[in-house]
Amino acid sequence: MERPSPPLTIVDHPLAAHLLTGLRDERTEPERFRHLARRLSTVLILEATRDLPTVTTSVATPIEETSARVLRGGVVAVPILRAGLGLLEAATELLPDVGVGYAGLERDEATLQPVSYYLKVPPLDGRSVLLLDPMLATGGSAAFAASLLKERGATAIQLVCVVAAPEGVARLAAEHPDVAIVTAALDERLNDVGYIVPGLGDFGDRLFGTG
Ligand code: PRP
Ligand code: URA
Repeated sequence: MERPSPPLTIVDHPLAAHLLTGLRDERTEPERFRHLARRLSTVLILEATRDLPTVTTSVATPIEETSARVLRGGVVAVPILRAGLGLLEAATELLPDVGVGYAGLERDEATLQPVSYYLKVPPLDGRSVLLLDPMLATGGSAAFAASLLKERGATAIQLVCVVAAPEGVARLAAEHPDVAIVTAALDERLNDVGYIVPGLGDFGDRLFGTG
């Protein structure tokens, strides 16, 4: 039986393209890289939250009482450490009453398998979870994180990333067909050490000036 693919949204917006180009540029220094990451993630999170449920209530404007919508149900943002931290500030700025969890994962650079070193999340049941990880490469980290979050009760997860590789999209589709992906770009492929081509290099290193 053919497996359904998760919805993949590649944000097609000139501002997103412009910001992504700055992130790709090898000359971009960490301070500007952080600035661009924050701005691009604002665009991505706006897209990821497009279908959040709302409920109609009433509000008194200075002129009259009117019906108006408010968000129904909570949102939890979970950055995958470290690089996902570059997307977190946009989530906490944009989303009212957002809960924040942290998933500490690191790729073993020899095996490319993710290793979990920390997990702390608020209640996830009944809340929309935004999993924040800028690079979807082999998909191992995102798929592993999605499994950990489901074990903690998450039922509605979206992955917000900056650059995705076809290999990562396919793996997430295979392991978590219910997890939708919002990305600024779908690149060509992975190279033989698991980096996205053309990509932008190591996001965590560029964000924090390490490496
Ligand atoms: C990077 C990136 C993802 C992961 C993607 O993290 O932030 O979490 O690699 O690769 P995958 O799709 O093949 O799993 P990294 O392990 O470099 O850790 P860092 O965020 O601490 O730099
Ligand atoms: N992690 C990164 O930071 N960059 C890649 O290209 C792949 C994984």
